[in-house]
Amino acid sequence: MERIFGRPIVTQEEMRARIKELGKQITADYAGKDFVLVGVLKGAYAFYADLARAIRIPMRVDFLVVTSYGSRAKTSGKVKIVTELTEDIKGKEVLLVEDIVDSGLTAQYLIKTLAKKKPQSIKVCTLLSKPERRTVDVALEYVGFKIPNRYVVGYGLDYQQKYRNLPYLAVLDMEGEQE
Ligand code: PRP
Ligand code: MN
Ligand code: MG
Repeated sequence: MERIFGRPIVTQEEMRARIKELGKQITADYAGKDFVLVGVLKGAYAFYADLARAIRIPMRVDFLVVTSYGSRAKTSGKVKIVTELTEDIKGKEVLLVEDIVDSGLTAQYLIKTLAKKKPQSIKVCTLLSKPERRTVDVALEYVGFKIPNRYVVGYGLDYQQKYRNLPYLAVLDMEGEQE
């Protein structure tokens, strides 16, 4: 595979192995439950597709389109649901799928907002977590990898809406760039 740029922070091999583990765990935890896997787009699309196929129980799929960063590298602090869920989650076991939890604002906002729809439970599975950047406390049930405070792109994650299609996670060299 030709490198578009950057060095992988997590290799495709490590990623595959970790997603398989997460899938097994989620399969065990949600077996027999009325389970909905909710992808938080756009960032989660690649992880979601792989994770969903590693889960071996009947489940529903649904999605939210949410934005807080827009084209910027820093959070605006305001989370906006651009596109709502398509189905009622009342009484269901909801697992939100995120590509990354950074400040924690998006996950916190979604948990709070979706709780109003009265699901049976609502938890978070994130591929990546940057604990150093957390400004709000949010419980993360499943975390793929904890990563240092570097700007990463690829595998769904963007910089100014680009690089989401890189097949691996790369550290973006921000030298000379305005954050
Ligand atoms: C990014 C990322 C998470 C969120 C994490 O989404 O995909 O959803 O920010 O940051 P936080 O913990 O500081 O809230 P973004 O708003 O960039 O939208 P995108 O998924 O379309 O890239
Ligand atoms: Mn996102
Ligand atoms: Mg983004």
